[in-house]
Amino acid sequence: MDAVVDFGAFPGDVVAFGGAVSNAHAVSGMLADLALRGLAGLPMVSTGDHCAYCAEPMRTLALLRGAGMHSIAGNCEESLGAGGDDCGCGFVPGTACDLASGAWFSHAASEVDDAARAWMRGLPRLAVFRAHGRRWGVLHGGASAVNRYLWPVDPDAMLRDEIALLERAAGRVDAVLAGHCGLPFTREIDGRLWLNTGALGMPPNDGDARVSYAVIEAGAPRIIRFDYDWPGAQAAMHAAGLTQGYDRCLETGWWPSEDVLPAALRRGARRVLSD
Ligand SMILES: [Fe+2]
Repeated sequence: MDAVVDFGAFPGDVVAFGGAVSNAHAVSGMLADLALRGLAGLPMVSTGDHCAYCAEPMRTLALLRGAGMHSIAGNCEESLGAGGDDCGCGFVPGTACDLASGAWFSHAASEVDDAARAWMRGLPRLAVFRAHGRRWGVLHGGASAVNRYLWPVDPDAMLRDEIALLERAAGRVDAVLAGHCGLPFTREIDGRLWLNTGALGMPPNDGDARVSYAVIEAGAPRIIRFDYDWPGAQAAMHAAGLTQGYDRCLETGWWPSEDVLPAALRRGARRVLSD
């Protein structure tokens, strides 16, 4: 059974995010957006995947660790930390996702140093924390698998099973903070809240270049979409030779491939999930 780390009891609001994906410009954008909203200095909890599609894994880590983030490991930390040879997303060989991931994973693997890999290996797979009277569980994709995709359209039973597995390891929770799938959404399952904040460093395939994080407040969490310097992030990708499609996504807001998406969530079948 996975070890569970307790991030502690936070006295007020908490910033939640995941999927910075080596997009240091998006991290800087989130920090600036928090400052504009008068929320600078809040505790931060991340679901991982700090280093992936974009160009600046080490600068991204420095910004996030400098901000004092608490984090679990995503599949990207597990693969990079272990010296793996792919991202661990489980893409089908030869698909567009698989081919694009080869380029960015090689780039990330060449940039991330030994100290960062050691830090990644030390991250837990599951965590808990308390905020505003709720006990939260933190996982990456699912409790059954770090790279499980759980989508906003999935049936209640699927999320219920994941919550039961999480609670077997972590004890009773009132809410779940999840990542990996890249789409921001909330669901309520048997009185428990499920929050996915979307990806901080890649837009959620809705034709809008803004990216997202969340603020856990009293009552319902607030998912925040915000503008940032995506041309800067894109220029860094081009300078690094990362031109396989995620570079265009930063501008267009559409993923380079929808292989992993359920049909109901593919282009033309959906619009913005949150604002
Ligand atoms: Fe992931």
